Amino acid sequence: MSIPELKQFHSRRARLARAMGTAVAIIPTASEQLRNADTHFPYRWDSHFHYLTGFPEPDAVLVIVANARKAPRSLLFCRPKDAAQEVWDGFRVGPRAAPKHFGVDEAYPIDKLDDMMPKLLANCPAVYTFLGSNTLGSDPIKTGSDPKLMQWINAVREQKRAGVTAPTQINDVRALIDEMRLIKDASEIKMMKQAAAISVSAHKRAMRYTAANRYEFEIEAELLHEFRRNGATGPAYPSIVAGGANACVLHYVENSDRLKAGDLLLIDAGCEWQGYASDITRTYPVSGKFSAAQRALYDVVWAAQNAALNMIKPGAHFSAYHDAAVRVLARGLIDLKCCRGTVDAVVESGSYREFYMHRTGHWLGRDVHDVGDYTVAGQSRRLQPGMVVTVEPGLYIRPSSKAPKHLHNIGIRLEDDVVVTKTGHTMITSGAPRSADDIEAWMAGA
Ligand code: GLY
Ligand code: MN
Ligand code: MN
Repeated sequence: MSIPELKQFHSRRARLARAMGTAVAIIPTASEQLRNADTHFPYRWDSHFHYLTGFPEPDAVLVIVANARKAPRSLLFCRPKDAAQEVWDGFRVGPRAAPKHFGVDEAYPIDKLDDMMPKLLANCPAVYTFLGSNTLGSDPIKTGSDPKLMQWINAVREQKRAGVTAPTQINDVRALIDEMRLIKDASEIKMMKQAAAISVSAHKRAMRYTAANRYEFEIEAELLHEFRRNGATGPAYPSIVAGGANACVLHYVENSDRLKAGDLLLIDAGCEWQGYASDITRTYPVSGKFSAAQRALYDVVWAAQNAALNMIKPGAHFSAYHDAAVRVLARGLIDLKCCRGTVDAVVESGSYREFYMHRTGHWLGRDVHDVGDYTVAGQSRRLQPGMVVTVEPGLYIRPSSKAPKHLHNIGIRLEDDVVVTKTGHTMITSGAPRSADDIEAWMAGA
């Protein structure tokens, strides 16, 4: 790890310690997960743990001992070196090298956690941990889940007559880390831009490769090709490659059907780069030209996204861009005879929800649906520079609806990633053709 990176992780841990006062934080990473028999899913560390350490191995726990009057100490518990096992599973940093390479103050083998935690918790008033989280994984001995924490606290209580006090408060550390992660620093924005750039090239490649009679999974393979050849870990979430009516299934991930001439193809896919997600949706004609009906719906969604984007600036409520998109979608649904009444009535009654059933966006960061509260003191949160959001209006016309028949089975979503800046916002995914004209031009090879 470079010196600036070491400093950055150190300063994140120091900020967390300041927010804790006098307390101990116990932050485990994710466990390896079995896929079937003795085969594991590809390993992915816990986003919170990695945000504070950069440490990539499983079976690790970060402990921060914070004292309001002293500098905090960071202790990393990790897998011990094991030459025989490393032949099979690869390199382990080990506790001896971890302080130098990851900037923690001390490091110990993970099997020392049980011995050391009661000592670290002695005379400490409060604990911060992941309360009730099943992301603590399958091995509570290694990862320090809730029951383990109770054992450690009970072990401290047993020393009461020796004058030792046990923690009396247990807090969820996520409440503090979520707030930190919600505002991305310059290095994080840089990584998110890179994730976005790779995903943009993947969508452009997919558009050019799309043709009638190809299978959805063939297009998915083009996305994966572009992700991996650029060094991204892979998709940040399962790619949705949905031709025709499949686009009306919001979480369609089978990607198994054959594409038909005259249909649209909806692709919701983004890569993960250095632990940061991107999240882009494009919808375009399989044969390269929108029909009149497809274009009419597409232009409504496009206008809704533009209206939403106009609302994204510091100080605006998070909910404002959803509300702006909904009004444009409602207008379009009335004009296309899918909904009846005035815009106010359609918005008020929620009749648009038959065609638009999700929100217009979410925080984006290390997790595709990133951490951070959407409301503060009962009010929609105000946007601040450094927040990253998606803007993703859509319309989905299922055949069971009362919409005119020529619109049935059309599903459209348009999703971009946007950084809130001091003066407004920057879209970091605009390189993927967005308007109907730009899409047709790109697909024609222009
Ligand atoms: N791809 C997940 C989402 O758009 O929220
Ligand atoms: Mn999204
Ligand atoms: Mn998406």
